Amino acid sequence: MPVLSRKSPPTLPGYLVFNPKEIKENPLNFYNRMWKEYGDLVRLPIMPNYSFYLAAHPSYAEHILSTHQELYPKPDIVNKPFNLMMGESILTSEGDFWLKHRRLMQPAFHMKHLGNLAEVMISCTESFMQEWENKLDGEVIDIAAETLRLTLKIAGQTLFSKDISDEQSVLGKAFRTGFEFVNYKMNNLWTEPLWVPTPRNQRFRRAKETLDNLVLDIIDSRRKNPIDSYDLLSMLMAARDEETGEGMSDKQLQNEVITLLVAGHETVASALAWTWFLLAEHADVAAKLQDELQSVLNGSNPTLDKLPKLEYTRMVFEETLRLYPPAWAMPRTAREDDEIQGYFIPKGSLMTAAAFMIHRHPDFWENPDKFEPDNFLPEKINQRPKFAYFPFGGGQRICIGKNFALMEATIIIALMSQRFKLELVPNQQIEIDPTFTLRPKYGIKVKIWKKIP
Ligand code: HEM
Repeated sequence: MPVLSRKSPPTLPGYLVFNPKEIKENPLNFYNRMWKEYGDLVRLPIMPNYSFYLAAHPSYAEHILSTHQELYPKPDIVNKPFNLMMGESILTSEGDFWLKHRRLMQPAFHMKHLGNLAEVMISCTESFMQEWENKLDGEVIDIAAETLRLTLKIAGQTLFSKDISDEQSVLGKAFRTGFEFVNYKMNNLWTEPLWVPTPRNQRFRRAKETLDNLVLDIIDSRRKNPIDSYDLLSMLMAARDEETGEGMSDKQLQNEVITLLVAGHETVASALAWTWFLLAEHADVAAKLQDELQSVLNGSNPTLDKLPKLEYTRMVFEETLRLYPPAWAMPRTAREDDEIQGYFIPKGSLMTAAAFMIHRHPDFWENPDKFEPDNFLPEKINQRPKFAYFPFGGGQRICIGKNFALMEATIIIALMSQRFKLELVPNQQIEIDPTFTLRPKYGIKVKIWKKIP
């Protein structure tokens, strides 16, 4: 056992509890300030012998998420609120359970299979755009609410071939109530336990029961009447453990279906809302995007065979994920005493790999705060350390839906930019809400203009 350094990294004097207002109001600003004042690894004491470490350097992120990942599981304070909604699942479990589920679920997210879902994504976006066609030119919409509606529509259809984005969808409503509750729990450390019959708790319990029953019904009816479908649920139901030949139970399937809904819709929606914002602010990038769409698609659909040619479209989305990473901090807890770059990390400490800060670190990005999709030209990517950019995480817990999300976003951007131009409504307050996925706090109001075909 090597002797570990006892040196502590730069430390905030006093305890985090003395800054509750700043942390609660805007954790992102607070951590950004800590990073700027104290450096790339900051210790923020929570109480005696218990600290939170903010890691804002690619090599620290790589240490936590990849090279020493076995020492850094996800913390309970994050897993527990999620568990209320989805039970034990790939997102919140560790060890053998996680490995078994990751292996069972991975094939459904393989490009070979995802290709079948491209058509579903295209047809969802087309029917969504049809609604936009009925709007007046210059009509104002909130693009953040709209992208959320679209990605929920795509999530439902790609997962179990049902549209749950409709206001009237009982499953959709139950899901939204549950999702808001998880959001609330994540952002308020001191909340009433679930058994206390507060209106909020009761609302959640009802929603959770409805959601569970409806998802179980879908699974049950699939078991009784298997349908010829390429959706993710069909893949998950067919998945078998290579060694034991076992598949997932109905309960496990139910948990994983809810997990994929949670993990897979707001992340993409939030990033897409920022994409439209950035495109509206950067006419030069928007024009370059149009040139690519014109030469590759010329008004046709971004079908699977054409996606690899939409390089700039994809770079626009990757650059958005750099500036507004939906998973802006990836929390972990130290299972054992450890040392990072000469600094001591005691067992039990909370850590976070701070993607938002690393994605804007001046040592690795020329103009850190500027929207420059050319940052994702292959020669530029090769110049940077791997963990200078990790919107989908890294190591074995890397996002299972990464290719799904990139495909979905490329399709949506390509389809919608060919048909509509979005113009920012002037004088509105646009702010990041750092509570969950960096979504725009007050939405983003845009005027919608139809393009003449
Ligand atoms: C732009 C969109 C997305 C972003 C930025 C994103 C980001 C991430 C990140 C950073 C992680 C790792 C978290 C950690 O290590 O603490 C993760 C995990 C995960 N993501 Fe995504 N995600 C996106 C879309 C999706 C989609 C579309 C799905 C599913 C359809 C999905 C499903 C999951 C699942 C199941 C995990 C847990 C994987 C595991 O622990 O093995 N994500 N995501």
